[in-house]
Amino acid sequence: MSSSTPWELSGTSALVTGATSGIGKATAMALAEHGARVVVSGRDEVRGEQVVKEIRAAGGQAYFVRAELHDEASARALAARATELVGPIDVLVNNAGIYPFGPTEQTTQQDFDAVYDVNVKVPFFLVAALAPEMAGRGRGAIVNVTTVVAQFGLAGMALYGSSKAALELLTKSWAAEYGPRGVRINAVSPGPTRTEGTEEMGDNLDALAAAAPAGRPACPQEIADSIVFLASQRSSFVHGAILPVDGGRVAV
Ligand SMILES: NC(=O)c1ccc[n+]([C@@H]2O[C@H](COP(=O)([O-])OP(=O)(O)OC[C@H]3O[C@@H](n4cnc5c(N)ncnc54)[C@H](OP(=O)(O)O)[C@@H]3O)[C@@H](O)[C@H]2O)c1
Repeated sequence: MSSSTPWELSGTSALVTGATSGIGKATAMALAEHGARVVVSGRDEVRGEQVVKEIRAAGGQAYFVRAELHDEASARALAARATELVGPIDVLVNNAGIYPFGPTEQTTQQDFDAVYDVNVKVPFFLVAALAPEMAGRGRGAIVNVTTVVAQFGLAGMALYGSSKAALELLTKSWAAEYGPRGVRINAVSPGPTRTEGTEEMGDNLDALAAAAPAGRPACPQEIADSIVFLASQRSSFVHGAILPVDGGRVAV
């Protein structure tokens, strides 16, 4: 995509969670490139401010809001602060997520709660905080970032995959709930992607990616481009879709 492409994001405001790294960072930069005022959120202030700096250096508008997201209060506080900074939010990207892998029998209740808090509870209450206002104005787009392993069983990914499967069902439920009032809610389901978060997986990421027709991991920009599509009016008739951006993994 080039900045001359009319993606109808000019003048809109966007909130991207987990935008200090990987897919979220690429998404924040791409939304800003297409004219959105972007709230970059994450926990790491240094990396957050760096993303803002890069967006501004490229001529875009961005603000960093530090947020440790784990419950309703933290989600609602971020929504309120973001709205204060850039005005009513037109685009919400629920990207922040954690993905610890491991055997079910070695998973503690604390691990379980941590994954469901960040991957399910926080998106739930960000939507609760922002979708009604979008619906009141009759427009808005929400993009949830899920995962290919929400679609099929993979040993070691029960906890993570199930949390994102919940987010996929929420995507469809919210499409039914808010779609009639002008808010489109969709999801992008990425396959293995090279990010700061998957760096330590090394060759295991390539091994996972080898099962798909593309045969390689994605780069964050390839996921971000699809998120921007679902956030923009170019997808104006797309509601409640789970878009696989996985190199073809779920197709074969
Ligand atoms: N990479 C993949 O292969 C892949 C594949 C499928 C789906 N996904 C999904 O795509 C999304 C992004 O993945 P990624 O690999 O780009 O992630 P990443 O590099 O690990 O970055 C995660 C981002 O989420 C933020 N975050 C994590 N926990 C948070 C919390 N409690 N409160 C606030 N922010 C929090 C991090 O903030 P700080 O760094 O500032 O702490 C960071 O900005 C996730 O939802 C992931 O499940 C990734």
